[in-house]
Amino acid sequence: MLHVNVQPVLETPRLQLRSLRLSDAPRIAALCADFEVARTTARIPHPYTLADAEAFLASGETQDPDLEARFALDHPVEGLVGVLSFFGEPAPATEIGYWLGRPYWGAGLMTEAVTAALAWAARDWGRTHVRAWRLDENPASDAVLVKAGFLYTGERRQTLVTSRGEALPSRGMIWLA
Ligand SMILES: CC(C)(COP(=O)(O)OP(=O)(O)OC[C@H]1O[C@@H](n2cnc3c(N)ncnc32)[C@H](O)[C@@H]1OP(=O)(O)O)[C@@H](O)C(=O)NCCC(=O)NCCS
Repeated sequence: MLHVNVQPVLETPRLQLRSLRLSDAPRIAALCADFEVARTTARIPHPYTLADAEAFLASGETQDPDLEARFALDHPVEGLVGVLSFFGEPAPATEIGYWLGRPYWGAGLMTEAVTAALAWAARDWGRTHVRAWRLDENPASDAVLVKAGFLYTGERRQTLVTSRGEALPSRGMIWLA
């Protein structure tokens, strides 16, 4: 299967989206240890330790580049401020997930990152549509997805939230290239 430019560096007005590296572990651990970051994601555990960050990064070493793409969101002054991942489905579909450290919320950074990542996924990674699931109680993520051009599919499901050990209602959304 032909894939060009998997994991390039993407530039946005304020961020660089680059490949993750093992040296990112302490920074990821520090930002993800905040329960406010973990509590609306499906997969970030709580408490979150350096070992969790290292395991996450190690799993990236064996990821199938046709199935997964993970980007560090790098700020020129702050360093790594968050992570954005595509995962789950083979081309032409994929699913998106992301988090941003709490000090950086509310400044439009994730909308900027998602917009750039979607453009790459469509242009260079063979994706015609991208799915997302966000908790009903996550209006900030809803706003990011809507601003990036996602639509509601009408699907609803219970999503298991690792940090809280419970399944919570969520809505499906889709972006069409
Ligand atoms: C979701 C998250 C990535 C948003 O990142 P961000 O950079 O702050 O997002 P942006 O600034 O681009 O946009 C946030 C939007 O949500 C809106 N928003 C924030 N809190 C809100 C609330 N409680 N109710 C309604 N809208 C809200 C903001 O007003 C903004 O919209 P606007 O630009 O139209 O004003 C960040 O909050 C986060 O990492 N949360 C924890 C992890 C998570 O939930 N990940 C997503 C899982 S689906």
